Amino acid sequence: GHVHLADYVPPAWRIRHADLAFDLDPDATEVHARLSLDPDPDQPGQPLVLDGEELTLLSIAVDGRPLAADRYTYDGATLRIDGLAGACELETRVRIHPAGNTRLEGLYPSGRLLLTQCEAEGFRRITFFTDRPDVMPRWRITLRAARERFPVLLANGNPVARRELDDGRHESTWENPHPTPCYLFALAAGDLDRVTHSVRTAEGREVELNVWAEPGDVARCEYALGAIERSLRWDERRFGRGYDLDVFNVVAAQDFTMGAMENKGLNIFNARYILADEATATDADFLAIESVVAHEYLHNWSGNRVTLRDWFQLSLKEGLTVFRDSEFSADLHSRAIKRIEAVRVLRGRQFAEDSGALAHPVRPDRYREISNFYTLTIYEKGAEVIRLLHTLLGEDVFRAGMDRYFADNDGRAATIEDFLAAHAAASGRDLAQFALWYSQAGTPELSIAEDFDAATGDYTLTVEQHVPPTPGQPLKQPMLVPLRFALYDVAGAAITAAPETDAAINPAGFHGVATNGAIVELVAARHVLRWRGLPGKPLATFNQGFAAPVKIAFAQSPADLARSVRVERDEVYRWDGLQRLAMRAILQHDALAADALEAALDDLLADPAADPAFVAECLALPDFDTLADAMAPVEPDALLDARDALLDRLSRALSAPLLARYDAMADAAAQGLEGPAMAARALRNACLAWLTRHDPAARLAQRQFDAARTMTERGAALRCLLHFGAPGAAAALADFRAQFAHDPLVTDKWIGWVVTRPQASASDDVAALLASEWWKPANPNRVRAVLGNFQRGNPRAFHRADGAGFRLVAARLAALDATNPQVAARLLGGFEGWRRLHPPLRAVARDTLAGLEGQLRSPDCRDLLARLLVD
Ligand code: ARG
Ligand code: ZN
Repeated sequence: GHVHLADYVPPAWRIRHADLAFDLDPDATEVHARLSLDPDPDQPGQPLVLDGEELTLLSIAVDGRPLAADRYTYDGATLRIDGLAGACELETRVRIHPAGNTRLEGLYPSGRLLLTQCEAEGFRRITFFTDRPDVMPRWRITLRAARERFPVLLANGNPVARRELDDGRHESTWENPHPTPCYLFALAAGDLDRVTHSVRTAEGREVELNVWAEPGDVARCEYALGAIERSLRWDERRFGRGYDLDVFNVVAAQDFTMGAMENKGLNIFNARYILADEATATDADFLAIESVVAHEYLHNWSGNRVTLRDWFQLSLKEGLTVFRDSEFSADLHSRAIKRIEAVRVLRGRQFAEDSGALAHPVRPDRYREISNFYTLTIYEKGAEVIRLLHTLLGEDVFRAGMDRYFADNDGRAATIEDFLAAHAAASGRDLAQFALWYSQAGTPELSIAEDFDAATGDYTLTVEQHVPPTPGQPLKQPMLVPLRFALYDVAGAAITAAPETDAAINPAGFHGVATNGAIVELVAARHVLRWRGLPGKPLATFNQGFAAPVKIAFAQSPADLARSVRVERDEVYRWDGLQRLAMRAILQHDALAADALEAALDDLLADPAADPAFVAECLALPDFDTLADAMAPVEPDALLDARDALLDRLSRALSAPLLARYDAMADAAAQGLEGPAMAARALRNACLAWLTRHDPAARLAQRQFDAARTMTERGAALRCLLHFGAPGAAAALADFRAQFAHDPLVTDKWIGWVVTRPQASASDDVAALLASEWWKPANPNRVRAVLGNFQRGNPRAFHRADGAGFRLVAARLAALDATNPQVAARLLGGFEGWRRLHPPLRAVARDTLAGLEGQLRSPDCRDLLARLLVD
């Protein structure tokens, strides 16, 4: 059955304090819980109902007295106790079996470590509890284990006591004084080593920052440690938020289903977002590590201090925290590049989600399995909605709204209404229409038409808004869309006159200061902007900075589009203009667009003032997902052939400037982890990939591979060798594989390059990997490396007309679902776009999915399969 947002009822019992003691052992861990319970005075006489899964109940007592067997029931999902009179203390002892936990939810082993993952509903696999985010006790956690096997014992909060026990065991006690829901509970135990650094916060608190990893890995933790300090300082400066415990611990684990988890004072990370040095991690890895470290750190306020009333509010913490971490990265590095990267993901992946079978609003109003809602819509579109609010209010008013939100909701379980109310109060604005961004799914589409009357000099822009239907939402209301725009005259100078926006042509009214480079706030399905008496037809540009997460259709000649890219200074717009030229060249076989793109890239490669990282972004043509989103129905082979043809043409025509740039940046690329060096390597690698298309011997790539100092250079070269079938590819791969055989994260890298070789026959390589010692289905990173990269990163082979690509993934789903449903569900979700495929391939996809019915047992996969196949 579904859970509905409208059915929310506060908990009938609150937990004031939770005191937990663990006797840790992989085969049988005992958990002793003492919970101080208070009935909700507004709901007297309700039974106590606690969640609990796969728990063996050893004893149960209330206020120190054992509970008779007829006083409670446990059906494997809930423990129910009737007849409790008032405030009391419940004491339970349960046994759990971490070694048998393959779901990596609850308490589980990763290598020699024991650790936890509770969000969203994993805590019920540890002990009996009200497993919902609006129950927020204060905590005391005691861990006991054999000292030799588990020398380090970590939990949430501050360490308060340690002692030796007899028979080689030891004990460590932690206190978390902040009201904290159980999804933020964590422990980690094992042979861990650390890097450490102390800081004094702006409020004067001494905080010990630690990054823990298995002993052989700790040398690669320094960068993550620095990223914690940068995050802490940034949140103090930009949002006025300080850290609130004496320690901040981070643990790296090789087996982890997600990226990382913001448990109070004890973040647990997928090792791929912690471990890095220049020999094993790429520049992109370093930036991703910094961004994920920041994301989890920043949750301490947006998520932990202010938590969620219920899981429908998930984007309240995730969208807000993605917005915060992206501002962090933008403040520390290039704002434009960060934005371009975000737009790429949004357009390629979130727009596809919004137009596919699994589309849902930023705040869904029902779910069957909450794990299926950790999506690009909740995270990335949720962050875009915060960015829209920031754009509408401006930095200062937005900051005042955030201050108010934190002040009003500290220690509470909040809702999206609470968030909007704080911003409405701080800004004096009515945000009722804005709130549609949370409730309506689908990407808004703007179609913009221009008209110029040469006789009068009158210029009008007509802007129409349409939000397409999505599952369960056939009809939509117009959204509040802040649309940035600018007009330029024939000489390229900005036209600063404001348009007329009179009531006669805008019956719905009009907001916003419509001057050049500014914003019009679209509120109705149709708006008209008019300028009178212009000397010539102006050039219009829209959505600078990609301020609004919308699709824009504006009929413009390739020449005008190319000219707008030269005139506009906003780098995100300029990058986007080139992407649109490429899309027209690929999807409409528009030769003029291809010519204009070639000329623009030629200029850019020759421009010494252009940021090399920006040039590299411009050389990365729109990916398959972005192109497919603009094509209906989707014909993968035709689309990819057209994309390859454009790449062949451009790389051939531009080979001289590409080579010149590649050579000229050799010195800058050799310099370390500073921005200019990363930018130089990014552009060199982009040039290398284009140059290798016309270099059958791949001499340049081979040379870079042999001489590489960093993984950024070595990896990009190996990828070129593999993807272009260079003569030296097999030897280079063998060499690389041997060098890093002991390192699972680097192994994931070469697997990723192998399975994304852009030929249909790559599915044979995947099949070979699946039959090899490299296939480790218990490790989520490896599953993603082999199957996730193939599915998302090899559109050619995944979409093979004979269905071999689909079947390769589908055939693994039943086994994966039986061990780790969340990992299986991610792969199943990769079929979200199947209905948009052209008929023969759609039929193959339907058969593949239909063949999975009855094979997938988890609520996660059954929910997704039902939504994928519903008519
Ligand atoms: N809260 C974590 C983060 O984004 C992710 C937890 C994901 N949990 C899940 N069941 N998918 O920082
Ligand atoms: Zn998060």
